[in-house]
Amino acid sequence: MQTLSLNIPGKQYPIVIDQQAFNFAEIRSRLTAQKVMLVSDENVAPLYLEPLRAELDGFEVHECVIAAGENHKNIQSWQMILDALAKQGFNRSDVLVAVGGGIVCDITGFAAASWMRGVDFVQVPTSLLAQIDASVGGKTGVNHTAGKNLIGAFHQPQAVLINIATLQTLPPREFNAGIGEAIKYAGINQPDFYGWLHDNRLAIKQQDQKALQHLISECCGFKAEIVRDDEKEQGVRALLNLGHTFAHAIENVSDYHYLHGEAVALGLVMAADLSVRLGHAEPGLKAQFIELIAAFDLPHALPNKYTAEQIIHAMRLDKKAQSGQHRLILMRGMGQAFIAADVPEDVIAESIDACREGVEK
Ligand SMILES: NC(=O)c1ccc[n+]([C@@H]2O[C@H](COP(=O)([O-])OP(=O)(O)OC[C@H]3O[C@@H](n4cnc5c(N)ncnc54)[C@H](O)[C@@H]3O)[C@@H](O)[C@H]2O)c1
Repeated sequence: MQTLSLNIPGKQYPIVIDQQAFNFAEIRSRLTAQKVMLVSDENVAPLYLEPLRAELDGFEVHECVIAAGENHKNIQSWQMILDALAKQGFNRSDVLVAVGGGIVCDITGFAAASWMRGVDFVQVPTSLLAQIDASVGGKTGVNHTAGKNLIGAFHQPQAVLINIATLQTLPPREFNAGIGEAIKYAGINQPDFYGWLHDNRLAIKQQDQKALQHLISECCGFKAEIVRDDEKEQGVRALLNLGHTFAHAIENVSDYHYLHGEAVALGLVMAADLSVRLGHAEPGLKAQFIELIAAFDLPHALPNKYTAEQIIHAMRLDKKAQSGQHRLILMRGMGQAFIAADVPEDVIAESIDACREGVEK
């Protein structure tokens, strides 16, 4: 077991990474109240809620199971959790526990942020994407029909409890999608991590425990450092959005045909192309991303049915666009991300079109 710590002004919490089978004892020891609402989705609940419930002998345990999938990361699912809290008379001293992927983590966190203006919650992420990213850092929220994550709050958990063993039940497509977010860290400020991911790609794909432990602890550490310096995204935390303005637009335009991590992979290729096109980076950067993304069976070319115009329209609605101008995270090279304000739309369109199926790389 390995424990990292996330420190921000006024708050510190542990990120516990455990290789053993689902560590109920650890979860039990981290609960800050006797009355507990377990929140999960319809795929994860049948796998893990019953044994967890049994372990929480002596606690008053309730549960709320939401529908799975990005189309259900919405106000209705959030409302369902609030209704369950109201029905069971939860008050400010009770606690919520998110058991699931990034969607369950984000919605549960937002329910905890809004119930009685803020109650405690604990993250028990069960997907790779949630373990390396979504459960850490306190960004919570839901989608609006106008775009991804447009409704939300910053609300930090009491603890993040990761059990690598839960990845054994994760479908392979979901596992690979998690790698999309891991590759992002290499592009932001960890050029050596690119090499590590490349060299260890087979071990990761085979879910070698040592490789997964390293992958998860590195990613959580990278994220914790950035969040420590900028909890509310006034500056450096925006770098974590590398590839994400493209990704959110692709998710929206495709009606969530792509998993989040898959859309991030596509977004990274577009961000690399744009960085090169605007003269910030050497041409080889895009090929480097494509090579690693392809190694994890992630998409790196956009189908022709999604037009640049549609994607740019969705990008204008993204919350990171400021006063109608495109503010994007670009790179000067691998591991050298920066915030670029006022990126011209015609060049963004060229980059989207240069990342299509059948276009020479
Ligand atoms: N808050 C943040 O900082 C942050 C960061 C990155 C991503 N996100 C959000 O995370 C979401 C994506 O998360 P995700 O990829 O985990 O998606 P997800 O929550 O949909 O989980 C993936 C799928 O796998 C299933 N699943 C999860 N764990 C499982 C397990 N152990 N065994 C079997 N099935 C399992 C889920 O039911 C779901 O069908 C997006 O909405 C994204 O916006 C948030």
